[in-house]
Amino acid sequence: MRLGSADASLGPNDVPAGSDAHPGAHAQPGAHAQPGTHAQPGAHAHSRAGESSGAPAVGIIGAGPVGMALGLAISRAGWPVTAVASRDPGRRERFKGLVPSASVFTEPAAVLNEVDLAILAVPDDAIPAIVEPLRLYGGQVLVHTSGLLSAEVLQPALGAGSHIGGFHPLVSFTSDVERSVRDIAGSTIAIEGDEAAMTLLASLAEAVGGVAVRLPHGSKAAYHAAAVMASGGLIALLDAIVALGAVAGLDERGALTVYGRLIEQTLANARAVGVSAALTGPITRGDAGTLEAHLEVLERLAPAVLDLYLSAARRELHIVEQRGVLSPERLERVGAVLAKVV
Ligand SMILES: NC(=O)c1ccc[n+]([C@@H]2O[C@H](COP(=O)([O-])OP(=O)(O)OC[C@H]3O[C@@H](n4cnc5c(N)ncnc54)[C@H](OP(=O)(O)O)[C@@H]3O)[C@@H](O)[C@H]2O)c1
Repeated sequence: MRLGSADASLGPNDVPAGSDAHPGAHAQPGAHAQPGTHAQPGAHAHSRAGESSGAPAVGIIGAGPVGMALGLAISRAGWPVTAVASRDPGRRERFKGLVPSASVFTEPAAVLNEVDLAILAVPDDAIPAIVEPLRLYGGQVLVHTSGLLSAEVLQPALGAGSHIGGFHPLVSFTSDVERSVRDIAGSTIAIEGDEAAMTLLASLAEAVGGVAVRLPHGSKAAYHAAAVMASGGLIALLDAIVALGAVAGLDERGALTVYGRLIEQTLANARAVGVSAALTGPITRGDAGTLEAHLEVLERLAPAVLDLYLSAARRELHIVEQRGVLSPERLERVGAVLAKVV
């Protein structure tokens, strides 16, 4: 499955925003780029700032890195962000500074009085307790931004004619809000929900410059695990690389400069020729002596890095086996060196 790029081959459940299979394709013409004209799931009886422009009013619950950046990105995209709920006075003030149109509340339920679409941007574990006392009005949509959980966790808040869903940008959100907002543009955004929610969320994804995709049923945990490896996993790898670079006299900045270039070359190679063909290094040559030297120095000078080195080396050996170019004897010698360390 390839998601969203121009050469994407999409599975039947993948939905790139703007394509014919776009969930909003049945919405009004011009829906994608003009939030003011897309089909709303349906307005409830309350008065909202968004109603004057025709765009759905959006509220954010949880002013952490994700809530803050999404609020700002959505507001800059021209959708009215009319409410935020945060337990923390400092974060409420910061959000208001970034998005002056937002009314600030401490209670999530208060946001529902103000908006058509409420975005719950809180830790996964906190979602059930926050949702439990919420009741959606007819036509309202409530989504969370979890990469792991399905929309079902929001079911307790459902009322007649309301909708639930998921809106997960594949972005590493940090406390640098402007950086996160820039990163949302061009990101893949996994959306989930019934038809009405999908229409709205696809339009929202496109409005903030993202590429909406719908994941195959049951695949969210694997999709998210891959994301965690791509982001947190890479940071763990960088941390180990920096530790080894320190042995060679490099400070963190120096290590990131020297090895960062190699990482970029490797990624470019993998994109150009595929992951397997991009693998180089001692294991591809069956060079057991080099591996032994690495393991000896790691055990002596950087023992905390050993586990990570071994895990990666075993995965590399698996790739080399699949390639089928090394003799069984060489593969065995490398495997024996890796098996010696437990
Ligand atoms: N960080 C990422 O890179 C990333 C990327 C994509 C998706 N996500 C998803 O987005 C969601 C939020 O992520 P985040 O990194 O912004 O989370 P976070 O920093 O851990 O928490 C976000 C906000 O949730 C509120 N909160 C925390 N604990 C709470 C509790 N027990 N009860 C009520 N509110 C609570 C706090 O807001 P207030 O104090 O303002 O109320 C906090 O600032 C998660 O579902 C995460 O999986 C994260």
